[in-house]
Amino acid sequence: MHTHTHSPESAASTEGHLVKWASFYDGLVNIMTLGQARRLRFMTVNHALLQSGETALDVGCGTGGVTIPAKQQVGNNGSVAGIDPDPEMIAAARRKAQQAGIEIDFRVGVIESLPFSDATFNVVTSSLMMHHLPEHLQVEGLAEIWRVLKPGGRILIADVVRPSTSSFKRFFTSLLFHHGHGVQFGIEDLPKLMRQAGFEKVEQLDARFLIIGFVRASKPVV
Ligand SMILES: C[S@@+](CC[C@H](N)C(=O)[O-])C[C@H]1O[C@@H](n2cnc3c(N)ncnc32)[C@H](O)[C@@H]1O
Repeated sequence: MHTHTHSPESAASTEGHLVKWASFYDGLVNIMTLGQARRLRFMTVNHALLQSGETALDVGCGTGGVTIPAKQQVGNNGSVAGIDPDPEMIAAARRKAQQAGIEIDFRVGVIESLPFSDATFNVVTSSLMMHHLPEHLQVEGLAEIWRVLKPGGRILIADVVRPSTSSFKRFFTSLLFHHGHGVQFGIEDLPKLMRQAGFEKVEQLDARFLIIGFVRASKPVV
């Protein structure tokens, strides 16, 4: 097991792509989702099948778009943490949670070295962040998620599907794929990596939100 902590004042070092415009991020997501960001967030949390009292981690949490509704879902008896390498994202997430009167453990950190002990969480969510990583970090990140999940725990990933020839989809994909790692990425690539990491019941859900798809899997009980 390895755990690292990072100063909240400095960005955590990673090959992953940092967004760098935390103050505009929520507005941009709302534009990209045609004004339906809230619906996307609730869909994501619902697909994670979060239950009251569970412990959850949101990796690459950004401004807390999924982390905050996740905490609302698990309630006062549950607990939620969120990590992101970008201290500005973490500061924005903390502000939003404070304004909503919600307690969440937001930390600067990276998926490839999660600052949590083994078998801590019932659920890990990853929303719109896997396409920020080169493939080797996706592999390392999935191994870390496996480590911090309890046996029987779930992982839910929301991310972009590979663009088709449709120009509509290409337009939205080019908006979302704002850097090099994402050019070839599609959420369709993740089930194979998840099985290789040891996850079972890996399923790409039928549900879609615009060009965003969902993959869910479990860590075996034994
Ligand atoms: C498009 S944002 C998604 C934020 C949030 N999950 C959401 O759904 O709005 C991608 C996030 O991934 C984060 N990220 C980049 N590299 C990362 C890494 N190695 N580990 C964890 N998060 C990372 C970025 O800082 C950014 O906040």
